[in-house]
Amino acid sequence: MSMTAAETKPVVPMSGTYQPKGMLIDGKWVGSASGARIAVENPAKRTSVAEVPRAAAADVEAAVTAAARAFPAWKNVVPRERGKLLLRIAEAIEARVEELARTIALETGNALRTQARGEAKMTADIFRYFGGLGSELKGETVPLGEHVLSYTRREPLGVVGAIIPWNAPVMLAALKIAPALCAGNVMVLKAAEDAPLGVLMMADICQEFLPPGVLNVITGYGAECGGPLANHPKIAKLSFTGSTEVGKVIMRAAAERIVPVSLELGGKSPSLVYPDADEDWAVDGIINAMRFTRQSQSCTAGSRLFLHEDIFDSFLAKLEKKTTALKIGDPLDEASDIGTIINNKQYTKVCKYVEEGLKRSDAKLVFGGLPPKTGPLAEGYYTLPTVFADRSNDWRLAREEIFGPVLVAIRWSDEAEAIRMANDSHYGLAAYVWTHDIGRGLRAAHAIESGWVQVNQGGGQSPGMSYGGFKQSGLGREFSLEGMLDSFTQRKSVTVNLAV
Ligand code: NAI
Ligand code: MG
Repeated sequence: MSMTAAETKPVVPMSGTYQPKGMLIDGKWVGSASGARIAVENPAKRTSVAEVPRAAAADVEAAVTAAARAFPAWKNVVPRERGKLLLRIAEAIEARVEELARTIALETGNALRTQARGEAKMTADIFRYFGGLGSELKGETVPLGEHVLSYTRREPLGVVGAIIPWNAPVMLAALKIAPALCAGNVMVLKAAEDAPLGVLMMADICQEFLPPGVLNVITGYGAECGGPLANHPKIAKLSFTGSTEVGKVIMRAAAERIVPVSLELGGKSPSLVYPDADEDWAVDGIINAMRFTRQSQSCTAGSRLFLHEDIFDSFLAKLEKKTTALKIGDPLDEASDIGTIINNKQYTKVCKYVEEGLKRSDAKLVFGGLPPKTGPLAEGYYTLPTVFADRSNDWRLAREEIFGPVLVAIRWSDEAEAIRMANDSHYGLAAYVWTHDIGRGLRAAHAIESGWVQVNQGGGQSPGMSYGGFKQSGLGREFSLEGMLDSFTQRKSVTVNLAV
């Protein structure tokens, strides 16, 4: 594993944010067995703000062992009591929302006002939602006749191995921890190497209430730390959020041991705008759906914009006016709408896509382009919201998940052709439809191959939604009661002969 540039810089902590004490194994804060550490970078300044342990196989072993030891007692805690602990965690998170939000903004580059604060609040809501579901871990009885009692139980699986990305790190961690623990499982969660601080802060709050070993949070790189976790023989379930590429690696590891797996992967989600929606509310909706204010680093970003030919130019003119009015700046500044890309690797990747768009004479740059090379925005990994028009849905920029603020606008005239193009992707995570004609909007929603279609809005996920992907965007659902039951329990049937 090569050292990142940040690893050679001095660590300068930021006031009002969380300083890590190590990683959490068996209720204790520990360093890695090797003593190695990873520097955490503030992407707005390219400075190092903290160090976390660089865990590898030996640390995974310790964490899984601690979790396995905690499992028998935890699974026998009455579910309602487990739920109560999650509710107390929710309250404790809420009491420290501001520190959590600042920590998220600092390490991810996501703007405090528009993104990080919402993520911190949502994290408390997720614990609260699942904290209320303990009594819903119900089974069924099966009518096999008067002399037979047959019933099912929802039993936990055991040690869950969870791996999360950096784009909404704390919320995505909560989405695994809360349902898994409510259902009686224990967990080893690997934070993303680029954004471990908020997750460690949340773990710090959780461990005040949970028995040691029930939740273990480790920090480390993908193959070096996530690899041994995915392949550990004592892991009973794998839950992964991140790229489709690594999702396949996780699924292969699961196949070796017939371990169930949940995957929340990438997307290239379509937005379908009908001619009657050439209005400001739809433009605001597109900006939201494209997640421009989180630099479009979102798996649900509506990054393919299918505009009816009659409104193509007028809609893009409105989009330019509203998008370019957004303020790009320091994520911790309340005035900033848009922050930075997570790291140099992703920044370079996004810039390469923009360069390709600029080079092609048949792709028209509507607004945006390459980031400035001088001035305050050159200090960090800032990029500009960028829109290219006039190329087809077959273009690389319309097919690949860019994970940056590059939107491709494509013309359509025939509705069936528009829906065919929307579906012509190996992804199927989210989709957006924009029209006043609700019948037409719902027919399109039903025809689009994706796990989540929104009509006339571009919002984020809410607890209770069974959210997840079709096609290569993923497998399984975790965000709801049904998701918890399907992803974090296994059914056991018990059949009793009453005639004896
Ligand atoms: P990634 O998928 O490599 O990283 C996600 C998590 O998986 C991290 O915790 C990482 O350490 C871990 N990981 C990486 N390789 C692993 C391995 N071999 N075994 C076990 N764990 C492993 O994503 P990355 O490199 O941060 O971003 C690359 C691209 O992935 C982005 O440009 C974007 O397209 C996509 N992505 C999608 C996300 C989503 O929510 N859909 C989130 C993050 C990235
Ligand atoms: Mg960082």
